[in-house]
Amino acid sequence: KKKVILDVDTGSDDAIAIMLAVLSGELDIIGITVTQGNRPLANCVENTLRVLDMLGVGDKIPVFAGCPQPMVRNLTVGRNAAVPDNGISKTVDGVEYSIHPAYLDLPAATSKVQQKNGVSFIIEAVKNSPDPVTLVPVGPPTNVGMAFRMDPTIIDNVEEVVFMGGGVDKGNITPVAEANFYHDPEAAKIIIDSGVKCRIIGLNATHSAELTLDDADKFIATGTPAGKLTGDLIRTRIEAEVVLGGGNGCSDAIHDALSVACIIDPTVITDLRRQKCDIDINGGASDGQLIVEHRNENDTSVNSYVAYSADKQKFFDMIYNAVASQK
Ligand code: BDR
Ligand code: CA
Repeated sequence: KKKVILDVDTGSDDAIAIMLAVLSGELDIIGITVTQGNRPLANCVENTLRVLDMLGVGDKIPVFAGCPQPMVRNLTVGRNAAVPDNGISKTVDGVEYSIHPAYLDLPAATSKVQQKNGVSFIIEAVKNSPDPVTLVPVGPPTNVGMAFRMDPTIIDNVEEVVFMGGGVDKGNITPVAEANFYHDPEAAKIIIDSGVKCRIIGLNATHSAELTLDDADKFIATGTPAGKLTGDLIRTRIEAEVVLGGGNGCSDAIHDALSVACIIDPTVITDLRRQKCDIDINGGASDGQLIVEHRNENDTSVNSYVAYSADKQKFFDMIYNAVASQK
């Protein structure tokens, strides 16, 4: 089994990614590190522990809080503004929608976060691992960027970094920037520039495999707690996007779960291009943008791979089989 460290900002799509990673049985999850992103750090930690408790592995998979702020920048107030723990809601045409993507309707966690900082955990775990470790940042990649800065020697024992981040000519927080890279572009740049193998699962791929309200019903119909949570979260995301003004009311991208899916089965990504990448950190209109070199795609000195599309049916089946298998 591949050894992985998930690095999350849980978050509804992070929650589905965690469920897929655990219930697939295909990965050796040696730990989960948490950063700020969808919510402030403490809320993301609590959400992560809640999901693991629901899966019955709260005492088996250690969770570490990492950086409460991006590497260089201060928190972006809008993204991290405190919202009540029961989420926020908005009434549209008499219907109340829970519109915060980071509200998980689960009992408060009983498992506890580890004392060690997430960055220290990444460094020690990668150093001590007999096999190379796959790092999976699906939030702002602060913890991994910080670990690479503190101890660049660990890069030798990293199999690859599989990001959820970026988009080619596509943004979701500015016209050209995706939220995870936008919220810590320096960290993303440090990782990509390090020369480590990177697979970048961005908005082009995740939006090519959107899950639908019908899919949500199928997950719920499995009758398992994970199936119900997955279906509820997908439904909430689709409804929330409509309220927030960007959604089509039928489907939404479940970004982070696609990054986990492609570690279990790389063929879920149907168009992956070897391309030199950079991240704009200049603070202007394209701040946080993933910049992709479209020339020289066969340059073997390039170690970054960008996903452009995914197999929606395969992606659905992987999540379905995982959540349906919950005992
Ligand atoms: C990414 O940003 C986070 O809010 C989501 O969990 C996902 O990782 C999408 O841009
Ligand atoms: Ca995330």
